[in-house]
Amino acid sequence: MADSQPAVINFDLKIKKYFNDLKGSKLLPKRLVHENDVGLEFLRKVEKNGNKVYDDNKVIGVAIIGLGRIGFIHLEKLLSHRNVNILYCVEADKRKANFVECRYNLASVRFLTPDEEHVIYEDPNVDAVFVCTPTEMHEKSVIKALEAKKAVFCEKPLATCYEGMKKCYSLAKKHNLPIFCAFNRRFDPSFRQIKERVASGEIGKIHVIKTCSRDSPLPSMDYIKTSGGIFHDCGVHDIDLVCWILNEFPISVCTQAHSFIPEIAALNDFDTVSITMKFPSGAIAIIDLSRLAVYGYDQRLEVFGSNGMLCSNGVTPTAVVHHSGTGATNVPICYSFASRYSEAYNLEVEHFIDCVQNEKETEIKDYQTLAVKKIATYCEESARKHTFIDIPKHAFEAEL
Ligand SMILES: NC(=O)c1ccc[n+]([C@@H]2O[C@H](COP(=O)([O-])OP(=O)(O)OC[C@H]3O[C@@H](n4cnc5c(N)ncnc54)[C@H](O)[C@@H]3O)[C@@H](O)[C@H]2O)c1
Repeated sequence: MADSQPAVINFDLKIKKYFNDLKGSKLLPKRLVHENDVGLEFLRKVEKNGNKVYDDNKVIGVAIIGLGRIGFIHLEKLLSHRNVNILYCVEADKRKANFVECRYNLASVRFLTPDEEHVIYEDPNVDAVFVCTPTEMHEKSVIKALEAKKAVFCEKPLATCYEGMKKCYSLAKKHNLPIFCAFNRRFDPSFRQIKERVASGEIGKIHVIKTCSRDSPLPSMDYIKTSGGIFHDCGVHDIDLVCWILNEFPISVCTQAHSFIPEIAALNDFDTVSITMKFPSGAIAIIDLSRLAVYGYDQRLEVFGSNGMLCSNGVTPTAVVHHSGTGATNVPICYSFASRYSEAYNLEVEHFIDCVQNEKETEIKDYQTLAVKKIATYCEESARKHTFIDIPKHAFEAEL
């Protein structure tokens, strides 16, 4: 934007007056003007940056690999991003590719089959690759993308094993490229607010942190087969959330697990898990996981400290309550991850694109996801061997 005239936004005085009135309004105290109140946030930005010249309008060329449940969600978020140009989608299932192409009228996007994946690495216009394939395929695509000097957004987990993850991070470091492992829950506005309020000391010293993560609907057995098992597919989200909020890694874990669903038992996997972890500060974490809750996608977080408690309960898609002569009923909680974490998916994509545009490090650090992988492995070992595990003192030194 060097020599050109600044693009001055013609600031409407009426809007300015409205904004000032709003700031002073008793009806709308400032604390209620939330970052998600897009219209109000817009006015605030105009107020602050009305005459600013933006240098972060660079359009990022993107390729998406895998248009399944999560790939489709990211595609939708990327389509509405002001600075993203989707250049390629790679998908093994022709019907899914056709549906997406027609549904969104994506005439300018090139759809590729898996054996044409190399095309995205050869195209210099691709700045970033979104890896949304089944878990066991992540590492291969991440390595190829990094070798081709592309930034990487990869669904969790980055690879099926610790060494594979390490390899990805070393390569990203070597080429100085952002790599983002999509622990979306960190971008959920409620969980993020809890993290910030815990850090501010509002509830004092943390004694207990509890998460409840029950899936809905039950994923297909084809998915579960290649998922890496409940500890590495589901548990990692909760382990990451807990460690992120406490800002420390555990010193011991103790886990119980069971399979109520015969098909899951036949895979030597579990559908119901409870994990307890103790941290150096004395805090105790309790994680409750299930592959299926019939009443919806149940995601709760509670942090209990010496000065009080912060919690985030089930989120409902609407706020409607039915009152009758016998009682009152709420609508059910969100049905699946797509609706429950819709905002988190938006915000994580926004964060990643910002990192690519502005050459920033992502918020999800290599040492954190590597430690989470190790912790999930200890948790699984505890369940399978029916043992309490003291984590070796220097277990996370390689990560720190
Ligand atoms: N962060 C989250 O909330 C979240 C939610 C769901 C899934 N995930 C993760 O996302 C990944 C994908 O999960 P999903 O539920 O979307 O699975 P899915 O099975 O619905 O989708 C995977 C897609 O990849 C396609 N595919 C398979 N091989 C391919 C190849 N070689 N090239 C291109 N496409 C190929 C499949 O046809 C399918 O459409 C998993 O690693 C999972 O752990 C994360």
